[in-house]
Amino acid sequence: MSDSKPNDIYKVAVVMGSDSDLKTLKPAIDILKEFEIETEVCILSAHRTPLEMMEYGKNAESENIKIIIAGAGGAAHLPGMLASLTCIPVIGVPVESKNLKGIDSLLSIVQMPAGIPVATVAINGGQNAGLLAIEMISLFNETIKEKLKKFRENLHAQVRNKNSKLSTIGAENYLQNQ
Ligand code: RP5
Repeated sequence: MSDSKPNDIYKVAVVMGSDSDLKTLKPAIDILKEFEIETEVCILSAHRTPLEMMEYGKNAESENIKIIIAGAGGAAHLPGMLASLTCIPVIGVPVESKNLKGIDSLLSIVQMPAGIPVATVAINGGQNAGLLAIEMISLFNETIKEKLKKFRENLHAQVRNKNSKLSTIGAENYLQNQ
């Protein structure tokens, strides 16, 4: 395992079924950018552009993509279909849907039959999808691992600061100051 590889070796694809999914996937794009990981973003629908989706899945490896983050809503088959076309790890993001609030998307993505896994994050869990991709990359890149540790330390510090503020000013003032 070497940390000498530049980040552009670890290209991550963020793919979504519709432009209406973009706001849900944006936190994934943002966190990957924060960690300076090369990211390719595209709209690709399993049912509206099935042939292009097949092409994309088949070529992903030769295009140097190491992880695919795929978001979709409703009968959300994009992550599973992409996973069926490549051995690259696929992280599925269930997008909140209008009628069923994303439960449909979640179950469609998470319930992959044995053999073709899709790692599924929470409904609208774009940031965690990005972070999961970053964690995978950190296994092979010390610079990313160090940044990830700092990110976690920052989360830890935020909670400690909030806790100390709460104990200092009390619940009522805390809520008023939020
Ligand atoms: C899915 O249908 C997309 O992933 C999106 O979440 C949902 C609705 O798409 P639009 O009608 O907004 O294009 O394919």
